[in-house]
Amino acid sequence: MLAYALLSLLAVSTPIAVEACQSKVTKPPLLWLADVRANAAPGTDSTTTLSKSDPGMRLIRFEKGAVPIPITADEHIELQKSGLRYTDVTEVDLEAIVTAKAAEGNYASGGRAIPSAPSKQAQVKPVIATLSQANLKTDLSSLTAYKSRYYKSTTGAKSAQDLLAKLQTIASSASGSGGKVTVSAFSHTWGMSSIIARIEGTNTAGAITIAGAHLDSINQSDPTGGTAPGADDNGSGCVNLIEAFRKLVAAGFKPTNPVEFHWYSGEEAGLLGSAAVARSYSTAKKSINAYLNLDMTAWLQTGTTPQIGFVSDRTSSTLTAFVKKLVPEYLTGVIASDDYCGYACSDHASWNTLGYPAVYPFESITKYENPNIHTAADTATSSQFSYAHAHEFTKLVVAYVMELAL
Ligand code: BES
Ligand code: ZN
Repeated sequence: MLAYALLSLLAVSTPIAVEACQSKVTKPPLLWLADVRANAAPGTDSTTTLSKSDPGMRLIRFEKGAVPIPITADEHIELQKSGLRYTDVTEVDLEAIVTAKAAEGNYASGGRAIPSAPSKQAQVKPVIATLSQANLKTDLSSLTAYKSRYYKSTTGAKSAQDLLAKLQTIASSASGSGGKVTVSAFSHTWGMSSIIARIEGTNTAGAITIAGAHLDSINQSDPTGGTAPGADDNGSGCVNLIEAFRKLVAAGFKPTNPVEFHWYSGEEAGLLGSAAVARSYSTAKKSINAYLNLDMTAWLQTGTTPQIGFVSDRTSSTLTAFVKKLVPEYLTGVIASDDYCGYACSDHASWNTLGYPAVYPFESITKYENPNIHTAADTATSSQFSYAHAHEFTKLVVAYVMELAL
């Protein structure tokens, strides 16, 4: 049982300066939680009902290094609505895993050296030439047709099943001359699975080159009942990966080392899907070459220069420097810039926390980011939603995969 007094004490004695961009909450998170508890209807007082056996109970952390706090299912919903930053460590606590790995001297594992410059132009350019902008639109209209892809919703679970079927169809069309293609669901303790598509390397135990994007969406003001098309956040990154996978398979791509595409569930609820996958890979001692994260690739604010903002925190500076070089080499009409999240804002953080090199190219710089995310207005019909801009990210994925895995 959690002592209410202890929580209040923590709240006053711990000065936390967490600034949440989309949050209307201005007070420190622990004070906010104390208020939620103080205002809870009589009989629903969480301090008397909190217990590990409560099926809806979650363990969350507001900042790195803090002791995890137990919260009830109702408080979890309030937390999602608040827009406050937090990490959900109920299923997987990556920080605890890092501590354990460091103690046993087993911390992160060995990919290949990141090259200093692109060198696979002869193989990459012909595949880039086959990429379709129209396919992004078709694939995205399927993803935005669900009322929501919330990780706990039936429509969210259905969206993952349907994507799995689509990817399996692509895999079954593989010619046989390329690397072996497999597509599988990675199930979680909640309904919506994550999905993994793999193109086998000639060296099957080689370090894996991964590109990932979260498939789930959220309506922040009403997570369980609201409409959440999630076109930009993150239907856009998902369709980039579908098209890159489709055309690499069609090209009979046969890498030296394995390549994987990941579509995660539960990112919007605290990076849950990627944390579970990253933990499982770490436990299995798989070696990882690199992880590239796509989360929001289609918003282009009117009147601004098209640019890709490379997130500089919780990423590898070496890998980022290399992927930046792919922009002038393979993309058109877009420049590489630097961006910053300031918190564990997307799935690259799950890989980075376990010590794997990650890179996160984002649709813009923070100043010009999409104001509609996490609402019913995150649609592809906005005039600032640009398939042409998103198309550049499909090229980037193909170049990244081929340069690093061939
Ligand atoms: N796509 C966002 C992260 C994002 C938003 C990056 C704006 C850059 C600019 C992601 O889906 C998200 O919403 N992340 C959560 C954090 C997560 C741990 C719950 C967030 O930012 O609140
Ligand atoms: Zn989001």
